[in-house]
Amino acid sequence: MEAITCTAPVNLAVIKYWGKRDEDLILPVNSSLSVTLSQEQLCVTTTVATSPNFTSDRVWLNGSENLIKDFPRIQKVLQLVREECRKSGKKDLAKNNIHICSVNNFPTAAGLASSAAGHACLAFSLAKLFHLDCDISVIARQGSGSACRSIYGGFVMWEKGEMADGNDSLAIQISPESHWAEMRVLVLVVSDEKKETSSTSGMRRSVQTSKLLKLRSEYIVPQRITGMKDAILRKDFEEFANLTMKDSNQFHAICLDTFPPILPPYMNHISHNIVRLVTEYNKLRGTRVAYSFDAGPNAVLFLLENDVPECLELITTFFPPNDDETNFVRGLVTSSCKKAVNCQINIPICPGGVKYIIHTKIGDGPRILEDPASSLLTCEGFPRV
Ligand code: DP6
Repeated sequence: MEAITCTAPVNLAVIKYWGKRDEDLILPVNSSLSVTLSQEQLCVTTTVATSPNFTSDRVWLNGSENLIKDFPRIQKVLQLVREECRKSGKKDLAKNNIHICSVNNFPTAAGLASSAAGHACLAFSLAKLFHLDCDISVIARQGSGSACRSIYGGFVMWEKGEMADGNDSLAIQISPESHWAEMRVLVLVVSDEKKETSSTSGMRRSVQTSKLLKLRSEYIVPQRITGMKDAILRKDFEEFANLTMKDSNQFHAICLDTFPPILPPYMNHISHNIVRLVTEYNKLRGTRVAYSFDAGPNAVLFLLENDVPECLELITTFFPPNDDETNFVRGLVTSSCKKAVNCQINIPICPGGVKYIIHTKIGDGPRILEDPASSLLTCEGFPRV
């Protein structure tokens, strides 16, 4: 048996991907740009193993075995990896069955891009297991579009590409995490329940019906991508923040422009109050915080390290934890706040509205775990516990 264990990060799009021009190959209608989050707080770990003795492909996700036939996109990734093996003369390896065991350390399906990290980790692990030298992001993309951006750390762009076979629809790194090391991220977990409309079906309906999406993909995104790249390279936080918030707003506007609209909306009233809080705070202090929301109510806030204590104080004041919440702020530790601006902000206080906060920063791309003790599979290829 040969096996390898890897981890992969979550990424959060600041210029969003929403809409496919080819559903089978997962080719987007526009390019997108994301920030890779640190794996210390949010990551997926996957062990993949292959052996001539395995009788079928099998998959264990977060502790329980799943039928692989229920996961066509995992099957698609396996098929692509086998094709690459054949192309590079590893025909025997391509015949062997594969066991996959994967766990994440954060809530699944809550708009926290767990499937992106999961598919990135799977594609990366399999490419390393079989020593493939193809573009791994092209394989990850066909598991889940946004997964291709988790193949790199730092700031990453998914080029929409032009070719019909999708081989130029791939991720590239704009700059590594060290470029803007002072950037911090607060994930405000509003709900960890599964969303009602999946990204895949939501974006299909948007492509079919939203004129705003057409305008966005043809005219608005190309300009925003240029502006965002420039803001990142110049470390211009105000420009980065404004583009991030506008793009998040536009994505949710498209969800309502979709016909019939995507309901219930991904953002709920707590999400809207977070937007109001950030807006009021930025009015008082200058643009210090940016919000972004994916296909769920959780907020991701971007800010610089020096502003974290005051911002945490503010969030805890307006979204105080319920009494039983002992571990409200998780992840990176920060000093307490000296000067807060709470009294000048007039929005409702929502106790329990934010379940908990993950304080993290920008991180690196997938890693190979060399220590055999980190394997999720035994020497026989079955889950350890
Ligand atoms: C709102 O990558 O989950 O998070 O390609 O159908 O798997 P599929 O969709 P997915 O869509 C993510 C959409 C988004 C925005 C983004 O990450 O760019």
